[in-house]
Amino acid sequence: MKRETWKSRIGFIFAALGSAVGLGSIWRFPYIVGENGGAAFIFLYLICLFLIGFPVLLCEILLGKISHKNPFGAFLIAGKKAIWGKIGKLTIVTGFIISSFYSVIAGFSLGYLFQAISGNLISFSNASSSLSFFQSLAQNPYWTIGFHFLFISLSVGVLITGVRRGIEFGSKIMMPMLSFLLLILVIKGLMSSGASKGLTFLFSPDFSKITSKAVLMALGQAFFTLSLGQGTMITYGSYLPEKENVQKSCLPVVICNTLIAICMGIAVFTIVFSVGIEVDSGPALIFETLPIVFSTIPWGYGLSILFFILVTLAALTSEISALEPVISYLIDEKKFTRKKATVISGFSAFVLGVPTALSFGLLKNETIFGQNFYDIISFVSVNILVPLGGLFAVLVIGYRYGIQKATQKLPTLTDSIFSRYFSISVRYIAPLLILLILLDLLGVY
Ligand code: PHE
Repeated sequence: MKRETWKSRIGFIFAALGSAVGLGSIWRFPYIVGENGGAAFIFLYLICLFLIGFPVLLCEILLGKISHKNPFGAFLIAGKKAIWGKIGKLTIVTGFIISSFYSVIAGFSLGYLFQAISGNLISFSNASSSLSFFQSLAQNPYWTIGFHFLFISLSVGVLITGVRRGIEFGSKIMMPMLSFLLLILVIKGLMSSGASKGLTFLFSPDFSKITSKAVLMALGQAFFTLSLGQGTMITYGSYLPEKENVQKSCLPVVICNTLIAICMGIAVFTIVFSVGIEVDSGPALIFETLPIVFSTIPWGYGLSILFFILVTLAALTSEISALEPVISYLIDEKKFTRKKATVISGFSAFVLGVPTALSFGLLKNETIFGQNFYDIISFVSVNILVPLGGLFAVLVIGYRYGIQKATQKLPTLTDSIFSRYFSISVRYIAPLLILLILLDLLGVY
C-alpha cells in the first residue's frame, strides 16, 4: 500500500504543532518559568531551542523524510547497520510508554472537564478543600481508569481514520479552537485585577535564579515540548511529500509552540493573581489552585469549562502523536492494516497505563526507592529515554548519514550560515548538551 502523505504544508504544521503543544507547554511551562527566574528563564529557554531544540527537530524530521519509514526503518536506512534499527525500535518503545501514562494525566483533565460542566469546580473556598476533592477523584480507580480508557478511545478514534483524514484533519480543527480559547483566557487575564502582578511574576527577569539546574530544566523542556527523542517527529516527517522544504515547515512549529506556551503563562498567572492567593506553582497548579480561582472570579463557571476543554484538546493532539510511531511501525514492518495496528496499539497502551492510573490511589504506596510505578515509568522515559533518543538522532545524522548530505537536503536562502549553524549544532553542541543532561541524572554533579 502506498504510504500516506500530508495534504498540505499547513496540515503538517498543525499536526506537528498539535504534538508539541500539550501538557508540557500548557501545564509545565508556566510554572517552571515562574519558579526559575521569569524572563531570565524564558531567555535561557529560547537559547536552548536555538542550540538544540530546532536542530534536533530538523534531524528527526529529516530522518523521516529521507526514508519515508517509521523510526525503525528510518534509523536503519540512515545508519546502515542493524544496531541502528534497534535504536529506532527503542524510540518507538519510548513513545509508546509515554502514550500510556500521558493518557492517564490527560484523562484527569477530561474528567475535570466533566466536573467543570457539572459546576463542581466553582465551590472551593480554600486550598485544602480543592486538594481533598482532587485526591478523592485521583484515588478512585473507576474514575482514573475510566477516563484513561475514554481518552485513549478518543485518540484511537482519530488515529484509525489515517494520516490525512484523522491526524491532519483533527489537528486542523483542534489547534485553531485551542488558540481561540487561549486568546479568550489571555484577554480575560489581562483585564483582571491581577494583570500587572501576574505579568511581573512571569516576566521580571531574576538572573540570580539561573543556576545550572535551571539550565538543565530549560534543556529538558525544549526537548520534551518539541516531542523529540521518541519517534514522533520522525514519523510525522515520514509523511512529508518529497518536495517539501523541511525548515520552512519546522520553524513555524517552534515559534508558535513557544508563543502558545508564553500566552498560557500569561493567562494562568494573571488569573491566579487576581484572586490574591499564593501561587502554588508546582504541578498542583491546574488541578488544585485553578479550581479555587474559578470559585472566586466572575464567569468562573464558563472559564473552568473553557480551560479544561483547552487542556484536553492540547493533550489529545499530543497523545495521538505519541501513539503514531508504533502504529506506523506495525503497518510498515508487520503489514497490519491501519485499523488493526491502531486498535492493538491503543489497547496495549491502555493496559500499560492501568498501573499508572492506580499510582494515585491503590498503588500509591507500592514503591521502590520511594518511587511508585508512575514516578518510575515517567522518570525513565522522559528523563532518560527521550534525551537518549534525541542523542541518537543527531549522531546518526551527524556521523552515519553524513552532515553534508543532510545539509543538502535542507536548501535555504542563506546557505552557508545556516548550514554551518546546523552542522556545528548537530555534530558538537547538541550531543554535548544532551550528554550533560544525562550525566546530571546520574548525579555526576
Ligand atoms: N510535546 C508534548 C507536550 O508538551 C509532550 C509529548 C511528547 C507528548 C511526545 C506526546 C508525545 O506536552
